[in-house]
Amino acid sequence: MDPQEVLSLCKRRGFLWPAYDIYGGMGGLYDYGPLGAVLKSNIENHWRRLYVLGEGFHEIQCPIIAPEPVFKASGHLDAFSDMYVECTSCGETYRADHLAAGLHDNPAALNEEQLGKLLRDNNVRCEACKGELTPPRRFNLMFKTSVGAGKGKAGYLRPETAQGMFVNFSQVYRYGREKLPVGAVQLGRSFRNEISPRQGLLRLRELSMMEAELFVHPEDKSWPKFKDVKATKLSLVPNSGPPVDMTLQDAVAQHVIANETLAYFMWLTQRFAVDIGIDPKRLRFRQHEKTEMAHYAADCWDLEAEIGYGWIEMVGVADRGCYDVQAHLTHSGADLTAFEKFDEPREVEQEVVRASFGNLGPLFKGKAKQVAEALAGLNPASVKGSDSVTVEVSGEKLVVPSSCYDVVLKKEKVSGRKLVPHVIEPSYGVDRLLYAVLDHAYSKKDDYISLRLNPLVAPIKAGVFPLMPRDGLDDIALGIHDSLSRSGMMSYYDDSGSIGRRYARMDEVGTPCCVTVDYDTKTDGTVTIRDRDSAQQLRLRTELVPKAVQALVAGAKFESLSKLE
Ligand code: ATP
Ligand code: GLY
Repeated sequence: MDPQEVLSLCKRRGFLWPAYDIYGGMGGLYDYGPLGAVLKSNIENHWRRLYVLGEGFHEIQCPIIAPEPVFKASGHLDAFSDMYVECTSCGETYRADHLAAGLHDNPAALNEEQLGKLLRDNNVRCEACKGELTPPRRFNLMFKTSVGAGKGKAGYLRPETAQGMFVNFSQVYRYGREKLPVGAVQLGRSFRNEISPRQGLLRLRELSMMEAELFVHPEDKSWPKFKDVKATKLSLVPNSGPPVDMTLQDAVAQHVIANETLAYFMWLTQRFAVDIGIDPKRLRFRQHEKTEMAHYAADCWDLEAEIGYGWIEMVGVADRGCYDVQAHLTHSGADLTAFEKFDEPREVEQEVVRASFGNLGPLFKGKAKQVAEALAGLNPASVKGSDSVTVEVSGEKLVVPSSCYDVVLKKEKVSGRKLVPHVIEPSYGVDRLLYAVLDHAYSKKDDYISLRLNPLVAPIKAGVFPLMPRDGLDDIALGIHDSLSRSGMMSYYDDSGSIGRRYARMDEVGTPCCVTVDYDTKTDGTVTIRDRDSAQQLRLRTELVPKAVQALVAGAKFESLSKLE
């Protein structure tokens, strides 16, 4: 659907407004109006239902600001960047890979030199003034801030919600009774200083994300619920070979998708998208090219939807391996491991930190024994390669130089082992999904606009109208409106204008049904309920209205409402 049409409806009917419009606005910032805000929370709440209630993930909420070491460890400080080019005459900036769309199959996979050459060879110039462009340069997309007075401490607005969950692995693991797999989810705002946001909700500088981090045993690639979904076919665009519709079972068996867990969460992602009203025929999963993969990912599939802007990424489902937890373990020194208990104790050779008493004794004298014990408790992985470590002895922090310890292999009978979990991450962009929902719902016939939103996400669940605003019809209608509110559903009471106009107003904002109170209501206690998409009408006992609307929200067919009792 033409984005201009969708955006015009959104602005007119209170879904979306460009933010700070009276001051000229600012690229990449949007307000959700009254209907947009409810549509967005309905989408988010359905996601919660699938992940928290359906899959048992634990929802947490972490701060938006994080100190610099978090993003040094995560790799964002060094690698979370895009390339831009600048017009040497008018100063306009462009994302370099976007200018190269149409010149290459996947410009996001090119490096600076390759992209620069591609743009030069094709004589790509400034879209605004045709001026010459600089070679591509890297730009870090994180917003930097300073925390506290004076010089303060460097902090960043999070570019994803994920890091809050990685740094909290131990807390989540403990809360989950120290078992793998265990999952955390977080919904919230993230911030990316996008280079040239020109595509409405698709490229925001302040965006909403819903992310799930599933911490799994590194060697366990099976997933119990995979068997329930393995016969489902998904449209896949692998990074080698042609696009293919394939069952999940075949995709895993033929190593197209890395493992069952990743495949299961791709299935769940597709299911979520379809539940909220995205057309399954306009969905596909595209596998990242090896060179396009983010700095952490071992395998990654994007769920893409075909909308007015083309095929656009909505969700990234990545196997991040042990990258994140290992990175925070190494940088913070915290023991972010899980413990696997063996069925029987085993004799194993494992790395331990061993004190070198020759150097330790003279340096720490009476405290040497305690320092040695503290060293033995350290995680060898976090000690390796460091010049010194800090240990705490009787409340005192002591810096121990590396000449005082070694990491050595030791044979021991052990009851289990520590391991760094692997992570499967489905990462959803709420704003893009919401836009795709609107795009796929938008229908126009002879200038009559109807938003065919799935009742599950529709902001207003029912319009409630008295045929005339008098003779007690209005009181009955207000009673129905009230009973819907008390059942937790938003309804819209409207007593002005012709019934046709009132239907049209509701159809345009995606309200799935309208209830009309007429003179018969007073005698036989029934109302008319009208279906948005078919314009079909039924008569229903007044007290059944909340049940009927609830049934539509839960996915019932309109015709089935006649059987309600
Ligand atoms: P792109 O390649 O389009 O910049 P990305 O690969 O950087 O996106 P991810 O880091 O995987 O995106 O983020 C996860 C999801 O967040 C995306 O699938 C998308 O839906 C959403 N998203 C990312 N950046 C933006 C943005 N600037 N505005 C709106 N949504 C975004
Ligand atoms: N956690 C989302 C991302 O990959 O950026």
